[in-house]
Amino acid sequence: MEFLLTFFFVCILAFNSSSAFPIPGKVPFLSFKESFSTIFGDQNLHLLDSNGKSVQISLTKSSGSGFKSRNLYTNAFFSASIKLPANYAAGVVVAFYTSNADVFKTNHDEIDFEFLGNVEGKEWLVQTNFFGNESMQRGREERYKLWFDPTHDFHSYSILWNRNWIIFYVDDVPIRHVRRVDAMGGDFPTKPMSLYATIWDGSDWATDGGKHKINYGFAPFKADFTKFVIHGNGCSADQIQHCQNNAYVPNFVRKFNGLKPNEFSKMKEFRKKHTIYSYCEDKRRYSTALPECTRSRK
Ligand SMILES: *[C@@H]1O[C@H](CO)[C@@H](O)[C@H](O)[C@H]1NC(C)=O
Repeated sequence: MEFLLTFFFVCILAFNSSSAFPIPGKVPFLSFKESFSTIFGDQNLHLLDSNGKSVQISLTKSSGSGFKSRNLYTNAFFSASIKLPANYAAGVVVAFYTSNADVFKTNHDEIDFEFLGNVEGKEWLVQTNFFGNESMQRGREERYKLWFDPTHDFHSYSILWNRNWIIFYVDDVPIRHVRRVDAMGGDFPTKPMSLYATIWDGSDWATDGGKHKINYGFAPFKADFTKFVIHGNGCSADQIQHCQNNAYVPNFVRKFNGLKPNEFSKMKEFRKKHTIYSYCEDKRRYSTALPECTRSRK
């Protein structure tokens, strides 16, 4: 009996937790209901399983949908496994990002994954970006192709953020690293942020710069999310001051100080094959590269 019980609990543990690259060891997956709340399009948000760890948000002609974490985090590791809308999805934007725009209305920070729709037969593109202290005048976009079809299966998308680094991961591949340099000033995000996921109509700009608009004949467009991980210590918006001043950051995040050589080579290989655009290489837009860029790396 005892053995059976133990076996039972081990199974539950295995089901509810897993390794989340690059976190060492097993991590628990968050319950949607406990950790997140809907921000818009309530009617287009549905739990996908009885224990509430997976959720679907959809875009219909009447509304998109989105949710955010109940707490804000000062430096953390954020991750979810996401499956994007299948078939024709031009103009559909799925965003998975951290932000504090609700709390810091004039000086907000943000770190983004944005999935930019597709025309059937062509791949979805992924964009990453970040802002600090409302640095909206200085976009830091990069765009990439993926090495798989993100509408077929779940893949994990993760952000590691500490005082000096932002790393974007797709599955176990770091696809971008940003090292803070002093000359960036407030452009590097520093204040507590929530984790968000949204789906919305981005016809104006998303797919081929807006050439391909949404066709609601293909609606609803559905994005599925599961395996939520936030490795960090959150606090609620009304404790934000306390949170900022006494932030506890888990060791793994705090001590992170750059990719290991094998991770770095993985990133380099990805970037060589799959990068379509990087603001660092865009000399027309930035005749002088932004301070964290080191040009002519290619
Ligand atoms: C944030 O932006 C404001 C307005 O542009 C600026 O005055 C301030 O110095 C910035 N703060 C930091 C830390 O860079």
